[in-house]
Amino acid sequence: MADFDGIKEREQGKKKMPLGMTVFFLGLVICGLAYMYLFMPAITGWTQTARYEAKIKAKEAAVTERGNADMHPETEHQQMVAADKGRKIYLAECAVCHGEKLEGGIGPGLKGPKFRYGDGLADHVRVITKGTAQGMPGFPQLGTAKIKSVAAFIHTSHQH
Ligand code: HEC
Repeated sequence: MADFDGIKEREQGKKKMPLGMTVFFLGLVICGLAYMYLFMPAITGWTQTARYEAKIKAKEAAVTERGNADMHPETEHQQMVAADKGRKIYLAECAVCHGEKLEGGIGPGLKGPKFRYGDGLADHVRVITKGTAQGMPGFPQLGTAKIKSVAAFIHTSHQH
């Protein structure tokens, strides 16, 4: 140690950053990386929207596969679950025009057996998503999952 002029220097090799500084610095680096990962899709190619869309696509593919197949015991339960969710959406969004019991009002009754635009699950999904020129508004904002639930609700309420 050089001590001749009274100024003490720290020993070589012991120049450590204070612990607090190290933690702070690492924290900054981690935050930076996390920020890039979450909010800079241009760099990472990752966005919440893209991930959401991929999920919806996968779901859609799964549902389309089942398609309009007749009810099987194993899908009947799934249909009932979807239909129950759909009932709530129906009451909130559709009952004003189609009646609380699907009896009709401003819009036609939805119990069938006759449907102008078809009585299949896919027919309902199409009409609900896109609407019609004769007064049925489209509901694309509900998103695929909810639309399918409402369609399932109507479908399981058909009177044959
Ligand atoms: C503003 C009133 C209004 C609302 C709200 C509305 N509809 Fe309709 N809907 C109509 C009218 C009017 C028609 C008939 C359209 C036609 O004949 O082209 C219709 C037609 C339909 C049909 C086709 C019936 C057939 O005979 O093929 C379905 C299915 C349907 N609506 C479902 C829904 C669902 C599900 C919702 C809620 C998400 C909804 N509607 C909300 C007015 C409405």
